[in-house]
Amino acid sequence: MSKVLVLDSGIGGLTVVKSMSQLLPRLSIDYVADNLFFPYGTKTQAELKQRLLFLIERQLQSSDYDAIVIACNSASTLVLDEIRKQINLPIVGVVPAIKPAAQLSKNKRIGLLATEATVNGQYVDQLIEQFANDCHVTKVASQQLVLLAEIKLQGLPLDFQSVAEIVKPFIEQKSDVVVLGCTHFPWFKSELTERYPDIAWIDSGEAIARRVSEIIPKTEASQDSELQFFATGNPYQRSFLSQFHSIEKLK
Ligand code: SIN
Repeated sequence: MSKVLVLDSGIGGLTVVKSMSQLLPRLSIDYVADNLFFPYGTKTQAELKQRLLFLIERQLQSSDYDAIVIACNSASTLVLDEIRKQINLPIVGVVPAIKPAAQLSKNKRIGLLATEATVNGQYVDQLIEQFANDCHVTKVASQQLVLLAEIKLQGLPLDFQSVAEIVKPFIEQKSDVVVLGCTHFPWFKSELTERYPDIAWIDSGEAIARRVSEIIPKTEASQDSELQFFATGNPYQRSFLSQFHSIEKLK
């Protein structure tokens, strides 16, 4: 049976799981929400490397995986190469969809909405230079939106006005494509699209799912699937997690 380990600082990476489950409905997934160490977007490269290696090695003590998905843009842009050097498995990361955004933009004015770590990291500057050097790029770093996504998914009341304030620079700068460069942010995609229909809000979920599908042999992925959710800190509401087959608290 093919099984993939997916890691994120919280429940943002479930947007990637959603895309993976659509493309590979019978793939088994262990999901680790590292909410004890949340958020990742303010952590250093050294902290993220140490934490992810610790979590991956701990999971590998009890399970075998065909691939590992780092479903977090902050961690992927900062430590993906380091993790690949130390773990002998295919490692898939999530990076902001700058290239598709530049291709899609008609007015060549694009936006990037991500965490502090992603926006301030060199990796994003390289992506922009390589794929979007003909575009005006508005970058917005927001840790608040990461928190708002966690709040939203736990069913707590949320004022969309706070989200509208965060994305205001894109409206002012007339961006026609905005990259949701954090896996937490697609949880606001439908509201953003409804409120700002002239902007294409894009993320990397489907691209990651396609990459995983290339790694996992089709025959193996057609077995019965299982989705297990682990939280390193406080457990999430059962109402939210009811979509999962089994819930366990990671010890
Ligand atoms: C966060 O924990 O700050 C979100 C990480 C991300 O997806 O970039």
